[in-house]
Amino acid sequence: MIHVESLTKIFRTHVKQPGLLNSMKSLFHREYTEFIAADSVTFSIEEGALVGMLGANGAGKTTTLKMLSGLLHPSSGNATVMGYVPWERHNDFRRNFSLVLGQRNQLWWDLPAGDSFLLNKEMYRIADHDYNKRLNEMAERLDIADKLHVQVRKLSLGERMKCELIGALLHYPKVVFLDEPTIGLDIVAQHSLREFIAEFNREQGTTIILTSHYMDDIEALCKRVILMDEGKIQFDGALSGLVDRFSGEKILTIVIDHEVGPEDIPNSEYVSEIGKDHITFKVPKSEIAKITSHFLAHFSVRDITISEMPVEEVIREIFSGKNIDASS
Ligand SMILES: Nc1ncnc2c1ncn2[C@@H]1O[C@H](COP(=O)(O)OP(=O)(O)OP(=O)(O)O)[C@@H](O)[C@H]1O
Ligand SMILES: [Mg+2]
Repeated sequence: MIHVESLTKIFRTHVKQPGLLNSMKSLFHREYTEFIAADSVTFSIEEGALVGMLGANGAGKTTTLKMLSGLLHPSSGNATVMGYVPWERHNDFRRNFSLVLGQRNQLWWDLPAGDSFLLNKEMYRIADHDYNKRLNEMAERLDIADKLHVQVRKLSLGERMKCELIGALLHYPKVVFLDEPTIGLDIVAQHSLREFIAEFNREQGTTIILTSHYMDDIEALCKRVILMDEGKIQFDGALSGLVDRFSGEKILTIVIDHEVGPEDIPNSEYVSEIGKDHITFKVPKSEIAKITSHFLAHFSVRDITISEMPVEEVIREIFSGKNIDASS
């Protein structure tokens, strides 16, 4: 459904030194710097998949999605979405596509959302029956029916986002990009949007790329994630694989019969918690055997559990740059 090959976007920006004299100079001689926002991005997505795109601020997610939406021309590389080259903006592409930018309003600010929806109905030539059925269903699921007649500017952020989503989906697009649809929303609204997105994907078979800085969104919705860093794809695969690949550490919990002090513990630098009857380590995989055998030899051990690092924590480490080179 989506094929992307070596897609690259280089932004050229004009550099101006401060000062009036430099402003005058720059009229005649302009200096530019180049910034690679997307660097040979390559991936494919099959029909009906819901794929998460992760990356720190400025990683190149929105830039990539804008190219795949036809809003930006790439500097080089190829892409097709539903068989169309997005930036050729073919009508059939636009009819079957939608982009939601959580950071930008797409509904008419001064109109009630319901009026914007009517415009979409005309634009996408949605039949009356379909339109009414879809709108009622979506509004009910998102619990927003009573707000469709209120000017969009007066809606709360969460209400507006729900309306944005309805507006973007009324024509039942085959491919949808959701760029931070839950940004700034409270937990309840996030949850409700998340459920709605999952259902829409399941029921309509819509192919969806979702970006979010909330790991809950990604964990709840996406089996597959694409991780971007400085314009490049660093990882593309199962969410669980991301933990395997980027986290060299595991959580080791040893339950013992009596209390121990820090002096009894080898490799105490890995200890993350000492409880009344247990010790928890955040420890490199290579150290696990050593620590467990020490405890088995010296203490009466009741239980040992080894678990993966929480995804959230792994991602945090990746974003902070700590683990990004752990690609071997
Ligand atoms: N029009 C532009 N001109 C110059 N630089 C740009 C332009 N648009 C984006 N960039 C730069 O490209 C980089 C990638 O931006 P992009 O918006 O794709 O990041 P992102 O991964 O979506 O980040 P965020 O999580 O903050 O939304 C950033 O450093 C940004 O400053
Ligand atoms: Mg972005």
